[in-house]
Amino acid sequence: MESLGVGQQEGVIGELSKVTWAVGGGKGGVGKSLVAISLAYWLGRLKRRAILMDGDLGGANLHTMLGMRIPQKNLDDFILKRVDTLDDILLPTSMQGVQLLAGGSEVPALANPNFAQKSRILRAMQNLETDVLLVDLGAGTSLNTLDLFLACPRKLVVMTPQPTSIQNAYGFVKAAFYRRITRALRRTQLKGLFDVSANSDEPIPQSVEEVLEEVSIGAPEALDEVRAAIDDLRLELVVNMARDPKEHKVGDLIREVCKKFLGLDVRVRGTIPYDPGMEKWAKTMDAGALGQDTGSSALRAAYEIAYEMISELEATPTSEQSFRRAA
Ligand SMILES: Nc1ncnc2c1ncn2[C@@H]1O[C@H](COP(=O)(O)OP(=O)(O)OP(=O)(O)O)[C@@H](O)[C@H]1O
Ligand SMILES: [Mg+2]
Repeated sequence: MESLGVGQQEGVIGELSKVTWAVGGGKGGVGKSLVAISLAYWLGRLKRRAILMDGDLGGANLHTMLGMRIPQKNLDDFILKRVDTLDDILLPTSMQGVQLLAGGSEVPALANPNFAQKSRILRAMQNLETDVLLVDLGAGTSLNTLDLFLACPRKLVVMTPQPTSIQNAYGFVKAAFYRRITRALRRTQLKGLFDVSANSDEPIPQSVEEVLEEVSIGAPEALDEVRAAIDDLRLELVVNMARDPKEHKVGDLIREVCKKFLGLDVRVRGTIPYDPGMEKWAKTMDAGALGQDTGSSALRAAYEIAYEMISELEATPTSEQSFRRAA
């Protein structure tokens, strides 16, 4: 049972304006953490300051992948108020310019923080001193995961070309879409729009078009907010571990499926090949060794993604999204 359901809480987790990239996706083991680490690696190499945050509240293990057995400080210290800011728990990594914000594990209950705790974490994330904050999310579509994902202005959905992963990625996109709409409708009589029990004899709207139609009839006062929420969703797919040209096209396939069945525009941000070197690297758990294999096709593809994302940010700076170059 989730601690925060829209029906259970009046408040809603807000959105971050800081340059924050969520790396999520419904399925475990598709490479979310590896993608987040690779992007952080390139941000550091491109002289930007990056913070890698372990957003897997129930199963933090990003530190392990970076070669830390037990992190000296982690999110528990912040949630339990042993420290006041997230800056206080940042750890250096052996990647240039990259710091780690390790997840907690000490208190199992904190895997499912309450609304106040989540709000406090988000506010503190907003205050972190960095150029880019990368949030590596856990698998699944729990409300905590979806809310953290939705709070981030850039949203990457990592998937692999495996049929189960394709299914999960589509499910994740759909869950994020419905969650966002539910939040926009939280103060209206349509707040249970996607609630199966509340709509037992009515079909649940599936697509953008059907949602907008329902809202225009049942909660016209929220129509603008719902439209804005859909426009702001901007989900981006990253296909990881693609092995052949056919698999390199999987992103386009999902994009078309999302358009056809949900009426949702998602973007294919990039495709990362299957690279045995990355698999080997993941086993070494030595962050300092990343990039030593100069022929790594996966790392090269991650560079394209990191570079493109940085270029886009710098081309459209806003007051909050000021993108400072590391000294
Ligand atoms: N591009 C790649 N080429 C080869 N192997 C890869 C690639 N990306 C990921 N892997 C392999 O997949 C494993 C799982 O990756 P990772 O831990 O990043 O997945 P995850 O989605 O974060 O999993 P979880 O949901 O458990 O957090 C890695 O340990 C690595 O062996
Ligand atoms: Mg992971």
